[in-house]
Amino acid sequence: MVQLLSAVVTVLAAASTVEAVPTFGWGHWDNWGKWGDWWRPGLHNAARKKGRYLGTATDNIYLGDKEYVKLWKNRADFGQITPSNTLKWETIEPQQGVFNFTPGDELVNMARDNGQFVRCHTLVWHSQLAPWVEKENRTWTNETLVEAMVNHVTKTAEHFKGRCYAWDVVNEALEDDGSYRKSIFYNIIGEAYIPIAFAAAAKADPHAKLYYNDYDLENVSPKTDGALRIVKLIQSYGVKIDGVGMQAHQVLGRVPTLEQQKEIIAEYTKLGVESAFTELDVRMTLPSTKEMLEEQAKDYYNAARACVESKGCVGVTIWDVTDRYSWIPEYFPGEGEALPWDKDLKKKPAYYGILKGFRKWF
Ligand SMILES: *[C@@H]1O[C@H](CO)[C@@H](O)[C@H](O)[C@H]1NC(C)=O
Ligand SMILES: *[C@@H]1O[C@H](CO)[C@@H](O)[C@H](O)[C@H]1NC(C)=O
Repeated sequence: MVQLLSAVVTVLAAASTVEAVPTFGWGHWDNWGKWGDWWRPGLHNAARKKGRYLGTATDNIYLGDKEYVKLWKNRADFGQITPSNTLKWETIEPQQGVFNFTPGDELVNMARDNGQFVRCHTLVWHSQLAPWVEKENRTWTNETLVEAMVNHVTKTAEHFKGRCYAWDVVNEALEDDGSYRKSIFYNIIGEAYIPIAFAAAAKADPHAKLYYNDYDLENVSPKTDGALRIVKLIQSYGVKIDGVGMQAHQVLGRVPTLEQQKEIIAEYTKLGVESAFTELDVRMTLPSTKEMLEEQAKDYYNAARACVESKGCVGVTIWDVTDRYSWIPEYFPGEGEALPWDKDLKKKPAYYGILKGFRKWF
């Protein structure tokens, strides 16, 4: 009897720490998060009933704000966490060969210990890049830059191996017209830097889902032609790509319709890759009005709804929880109020927009 009991306890303990692994479309939804909180109302719990997840980005620098941390740690609302800054190149490898995983580890482990799975962001990006890669006067050759990039991707993905549900391997490689952005990587290596980075990530962490991530990918456009081309390029090298991340930094009044969003997701799905909304927010020119906040709620509804109604879409991540910590006001002066919780951490209509998007009927 004692033996049987301890076996049961072991099984239950194992079940409660089941690694959250969303799969393509339906499936595994009842594994997400820890047991015991599936019935509480919330955004993620609504999403998981539709085989999707709902997550948020957050940053180490806000960990002192206990009231805020309590919000993102609520698994009923958030099943997934994205560290918004501390996995970026400038933080991880500030000098060549000198790696700093401490802040990344802190946030990744906090989320995982709390039963939330992690989207890791990002390995190769032209922005928030360590100065040694492009700003000092160095003369890269193709060979030396490939080596430096592969080393960065390998060391980073190996370090976090097994802890990242997904990696945004390459971020924002496209211009608005769908041509390649003239980053240091593109200028020196050519388009091959993309499959080379993906191959290195796949080797370092074979189980992480590997994503191409960019903004303005949630509507058919020359830029999404570019994203589809990148997926095919990687596949043509015989290299694995699992998903396309639609950042979805949206602007009130210029948000694609539900049908437009579903149309482009279907295009990604046709290439055999999953997709996700990875950085959703809807900014507006301030001051806001009640009508603007209602319109924003509809935009959030459409993102959640487009994901639910598209076989290939696995989940939605908002780019932080509250207007208190949104990146928008600093980058777009005069704009803001982009997130579902206001500065006082009160739920806005946008919150209920997402909820309704996942539930539809109530
Ligand atoms: C890079 O070169 C410029 C012009 O040659 C020089 O003014 C600058 O100090 C150099 N920067 C570094 C970090 O060596
Ligand atoms: C750089 O080298 C890689 C192989 O490591 C190759 O695929 C790529 O085409 C080269 N780029 C240029 C500009 O020669």
